[in-house]
Amino acid sequence: MEYFAVTGGRPLEGSVAVHGAKNSALPILAATLLARGESVIHNCPDLTDVQTALEILTCLGCRVQREGNTLLVDTSCAHGIRVPDGLMGRMRASVLFLGALLAREGRAEAGWPGGCALGARPIDLHLAAFQALGAQVRDSGETIVCRGRTLQGTRLTFPIPSVGATENAMLAACGAEGVTILQNPAREPEIADLQGFLQAMGADVEGAGTERIIIRGGRPLRPASYRVMADRIVTATYLCSVASAGGEGIFTGTDGSHLLPVLEALAAAGCAIRREPGRIILRKDRPLGSVHITTGPYPAFPTDAQPLLAAALAGGAGESTITETIFDRRFRYVQGLNALGGSVRLEGNTAHITGRPLHGGQVTAPDLRGGAALVIAALGAEGESRITGLTHMDRGYQGLEDTLQKLGASIRRTKDKGT
Ligand code: EPZ
Repeated sequence: MEYFAVTGGRPLEGSVAVHGAKNSALPILAATLLARGESVIHNCPDLTDVQTALEILTCLGCRVQREGNTLLVDTSCAHGIRVPDGLMGRMRASVLFLGALLAREGRAEAGWPGGCALGARPIDLHLAAFQALGAQVRDSGETIVCRGRTLQGTRLTFPIPSVGATENAMLAACGAEGVTILQNPAREPEIADLQGFLQAMGADVEGAGTERIIIRGGRPLRPASYRVMADRIVTATYLCSVASAGGEGIFTGTDGSHLLPVLEALAAAGCAIRREPGRIILRKDRPLGSVHITTGPYPAFPTDAQPLLAAALAGGAGESTITETIFDRRFRYVQGLNALGGSVRLEGNTAHITGRPLHGGQVTAPDLRGGAALVIAALGAEGESRITGLTHMDRGYQGLEDTLQKLGASIRRTKDKGT
């Protein structure tokens, strides 16, 4: 079995580039189906969730090609309307192909999406959006069947600002006649990135990042070339790695403007942070102090970054709290932190963290960001750690161990003999 072998307790130092955002690339790859022809997507990270999206596009009849971090997606011969169950089950974002297929073909079928076990992850808001646009949606237990040859623009208010449901509604609305107004949409920066790609395709979409998104659908769209934004959660991962191990890191390809709550929390804990055009510099040379954060929809503190911050705080010297409001099973990593000597106590949806020196140990990643949190904690722990469950991390990080090695971390991917 593959695992990360980490020797912690040594400060990091160096400059690394942040790769493109998984949660931008995935909806943008689904959006390529809205036009016939070859789209070119730059800064697309090479990780297993993106690979899954490419396999879905191929199953639908597209021709895909990777040239480094550039993807060429030719949808000229795409004809499929069904996302294979095996691929659907690998990740949550597979559900986004339903909206794109509805817009392109007027029909879409798929099994239920998979993804990190963060608690209940219904897709009722996605399906309600399709129905509001006039599609018939049938859930036959294992399969979701959508039919909507003539989608009509509508006004739709989301009861909660769901990222995926907002993206799916935008995709489907591009294929609807007339104007669609999405009220109380999610405002994550990745949604603005999707809007940017749709606009490059000739779509009339505006308002991403605000309380109202307007789509004037029914126009023919063309393939486009687009550069995916930097991954803000990967940036937070690297920042928290230095905040845990100490030292100084320079992170290029981002200016932190989409990560302000995370930067504020790290500064409040005692890190010295400088933001410059195209890069962030973080220095940590004393034990982290206390911070109190509550996660929420953008622009609040991102749920994906709370495991990362918790890991850094666990090895600090403060009394902190992290309250999670988005997912009901987002603290599965806490068991691993405590196995590394952490003192983290859960009360309802709040983690109470008493910072203290951590020690090495053997832990298993429970999910994507929980696994990254265990790496962060191991980097700040005295001694050797062994972290299994790398398939989780490989879904959302391109070369995590390589990047950390560039910062001077002692981390390597290895496996037991004979496995
Ligand atoms: C996206 O997931 C991200 N994934 C997640 O990142 C991220 O944690 C999440 O947004 C919140 O920011 C991708 O973009 C691929 P939601 P998504 O719909 O769209 C409830 C990572 O680590 N809800 O905004 O699934 C839901 O249960 C991943 O990269 C419904 O009730 O999140 C949750 O409580 C993990 N019905 C809340 O809304 C629905 O139909 C927010 O979920 C949809 C969602």
